[in-house]
Amino acid sequence: MEYFTTTSNASRRAVDCVIVGVYERGKLSAGAQDVDEAGKGHLSDLIKSGDLPTGPGRCVVLTNVPGVRAKRVAVAGLGKPSKLDGTVFSKAVAAAIRALDGSKTRQILNTLTLEPVKDNSPYYLARRSVEAAGDTLYRFTEMKSGRKKKPMQLSSFGHSIAKRGDAAKVMRGAEHGGAIAEGVRLAKDLGNLPANVCTPSYLARAARKLATGNGRLTTQVLNEAEMKRLGMASLLSVTAGTKEPGKLIIMKYKGAGTDRPVVLVGKGVTFDTGGISLKPGPAMDEMKFDMCGAAGVIGTMAAVAKMKLPINLNVVVPAVENMPSGKATKPGDIVRSMSGQTIEILNTDAEGRLILCDALTYSRRFKPAAIIDVATLTGACVVALGSHRTAIMSNDDDLREEIFACGETAGDRGWPMPLGDEYAAQLKSNFADMANIGGPGGGAVTAGCFLGKFTDGLSWAHLDIAGTAWKTGAKKGATGRPVPMLSQLLLERSGSLP
Ligand code: BES
Ligand code: MN
Ligand code: ZN
Repeated sequence: MEYFTTTSNASRRAVDCVIVGVYERGKLSAGAQDVDEAGKGHLSDLIKSGDLPTGPGRCVVLTNVPGVRAKRVAVAGLGKPSKLDGTVFSKAVAAAIRALDGSKTRQILNTLTLEPVKDNSPYYLARRSVEAAGDTLYRFTEMKSGRKKKPMQLSSFGHSIAKRGDAAKVMRGAEHGGAIAEGVRLAKDLGNLPANVCTPSYLARAARKLATGNGRLTTQVLNEAEMKRLGMASLLSVTAGTKEPGKLIIMKYKGAGTDRPVVLVGKGVTFDTGGISLKPGPAMDEMKFDMCGAAGVIGTMAAVAKMKLPINLNVVVPAVENMPSGKATKPGDIVRSMSGQTIEILNTDAEGRLILCDALTYSRRFKPAAIIDVATLTGACVVALGSHRTAIMSNDDDLREEIFACGETAGDRGWPMPLGDEYAAQLKSNFADMANIGGPGGGAVTAGCFLGKFTDGLSWAHLDIAGTAWKTGAKKGATGRPVPMLSQLLLERSGSLP
């Protein structure tokens, strides 16, 4: 994709489509005003006759607009001017792209970047614009047979700027948006693949593939024998019941010499049956998404590598399948984690924490500047926050606030949840150092507290993405979250924002 910026009027660019906007009660966006003047009031006439949408998320495509060089004008609803924020902006761009999809549009000029959008500079508007296009044009057709309908193939995407001085920032925004969209796409693909294809070995191959040909990126994969030698009995207890070999995937991106790395740890349960504590049947297919933490951190790595950020980033993915069998771990079994602490496994369905604790202990060797684990960890998190916000827990107030702010800025939002001794006490065991479940109350928090027992002395945060990583129902599919949130953190920490 080629990006460009322009200060010229919307009506003057001979592209396949220009995107303009109309606010509630017919107020025109800057680009729409120009199109209206060039066409001697054509848009105003259409507004008067009620033929143009004004609500966010709606869009109408006009052709042969008088006085306009572009083949098409996509008119997107913008809602109330006072309510135009980043979310509404993304929604408007997505609506325009959706309305154009199916047409032969190759070049787009988006003039909505001229609008005053709350808390958003031209850099962020261009970034969101490209991200919204990537998100809208995503299809997962790998597993369909027959002729596949391709989404619109954009070759050039431009953004209007008010002054020449904004050009460099807007170009950077578009490029960063393209890289984040690529990370989101990879995370969605990995998430959407079925568990008979996307096994731990498949994830390892995907990580290796990302590193080939990139001088800054290396991938290392540990097998079960190597994990056993490291003492990862907790992780290995989850993979005991399956024939699929478990893997520990380690990716290292070096963009800043000897600086301490940020470490991202992603839960990679490629299918979660619950094990001997078997899950009920309905919707169990969705447990193929139980590796979306892994997909999110690998996707973030892809985005960071693409942006060539001056930072060090390590990604660690414990990848396993959780199955019942004659060799599976049983409720009541006790294992010794790599940290030396013993765990009574009262429920084999609370398996995410069992693989993450050993991956967190392993990651200590990197002396992380910050370590963030990402996991579809608890159904309780979905009850608490639904599908809109990712739960953020941390032993470091500054890190928690930093991640929260990144979510707001990137439009991939989170919300803080507590940790604390009173919750951690729910994990007491009569037979081992701790149990792997904390009883009926506060399930998302006690899961976080469990991980907290392995991150003493580290600046650590835990993201529970159980509600945000995929959509259920008619639009079932992976979302690619929290790639935008984490990319924002790495952009900020590497000083790469304008
Ligand atoms: N992968 C699930 C969590 C999950 C469930 C995410 C449903 C999204 C939707 C996790 O491994 C799990 O099974 N957690 C248990 C923990 C419980 C046994 C303490 C849960 O949430 O029921
Ligand atoms: Mn489970
Ligand atoms: Zn799980």
